[in-house]
Amino acid sequence: MSISRAPLRRFSSLLLVFGLALVAACNGDNYPQSALHPKGDFAEQVDHVFRLTVWWATGIFIVVEAALLWAVFRFRGKPDDPEPEQSHGNTTLEIIWTIIPAAVLAFVAVPTVRTIFATAEVPHTSPDGSKPLLVEVVGHQWWWEFRYPEYGITTANQMHIPVGRTVDVRMKTKDVLHSFWVPQFAGKRDVFPNRETRIWFTAKEAGAYPGACAEFCGLQHGRMLFYTVAQSSEEFDQWVATRTADSARYTPPDMTAPVDSLAAVAGVSPQVIEGQRLFLTKTCAACHTFQAINPPPTTGPNLSGIGTRLKIAAGWLDNTDENLAHWIRAPLELKEVTLIVVPMEVTEAEAQALVAYLRTKR
Ligand code: CUA
Repeated sequence: MSISRAPLRRFSSLLLVFGLALVAACNGDNYPQSALHPKGDFAEQVDHVFRLTVWWATGIFIVVEAALLWAVFRFRGKPDDPEPEQSHGNTTLEIIWTIIPAAVLAFVAVPTVRTIFATAEVPHTSPDGSKPLLVEVVGHQWWWEFRYPEYGITTANQMHIPVGRTVDVRMKTKDVLHSFWVPQFAGKRDVFPNRETRIWFTAKEAGAYPGACAEFCGLQHGRMLFYTVAQSSEEFDQWVATRTADSARYTPPDMTAPVDSLAAVAGVSPQVIEGQRLFLTKTCAACHTFQAINPPPTTGPNLSGIGTRLKIAAGWLDNTDENLAHWIRAPLELKEVTLIVVPMEVTEAEAQALVAYLRTKR
C-alpha cells in the first residue's frame, strides 16, 4: 500500500518558510521600532508584564499539550476494542475547565493591574531627583510639533529629551485623531481633538529612537513619523542653548547688497546668501520659521535645527542634501498629499541654494 507524501512535503515546506521568517524577525537591528527592546522605565514595566505572561502561557501550553498527547496515545483505538461508552456532557469536568482558565486570568490580572496603576500617574520626581520635563505634543496632518513650555521652545518631528529625567508628555491635535507612539519608551497614546491626553517615561539610554503615529489619520498616516533623541543632560542643555542662540541670531536678509560681499562678511558661501533670500522670495517664510524660542504661529513645521535633524518630511526621509533638495523642489513627488496645495516653482539650482542655507540651521 502506498501513502501519498505530497501533504507531508507541503507541510514541511510551509514549516521551513515559517521558520525562516521567524529567524529573520529575530534581528532587532533591522527593526529599530520595536517594543521588545525597552529603553525606558515605562516600557520596561510593560515589557515585564508581557514576558511574564509569555512564560506562563508557555508553561500552560506545555502542560496542556503533554496531557493531550498522553490522552491520545493512552486511549487510542485498538482493532479489538469494544464500542466506547457513549456520553453527553460532564458537569464536574465542565466546572473544572471553567475554573482553571478563570484562575489563570486572575493570576495574569495581578501584574497587569499593578502595572496599569504604576504607569497611570506621572511621577512627581524623576529618578535623578529633578522635576519632570513637560513636553507638549501637537499632532498635525502629517507631522508632529513639540513644545517645551519651560524653555519656550517649539520644534517639529524631532523631540530631544535628557536621559534620566522623566518626560511628562501632554498631547493634543490640530485636526484629526492621531496616536503618539515611541515603542522603546512607552505604549501608544491616542491624541484627541478638544481633549488633552498624557503619557510619561524616562529614557535610560542615550540614542535616537523612532516613533510613529499609530492611529489612521489620512492618506499620509504611514509617513507621520518622528524621532526621539535621548541625550545626556549636558548635551540636552547644549541643544536648548543652540535653539536660543539661533533664535536670537535671525535678521531679515539684505535683498539689495551684492551676494558675494554679504557672503564674505558673514563668512559663508554665496549660495547660503542666495538661499536666505530665496527663503523669503519663494514664500517659504510664510509657513515656516527657524525661530525656536516663542516663535510666531506658523502653519508649517518649525524648522529650528533643520540642518542637523536626522530625518526630513516628518521622520521618514534621510536628511541628505539630495533628499532635501528633492523635497523642496517637488514635495508632492515624495509625499503624495501634503497640505501644500500648489508647490512653489523652484529650480534645481535654487533648491541647492536653499539646502545650503538650511544646512546653516543647526
Ligand atoms: Cu497621525 Cu496617523
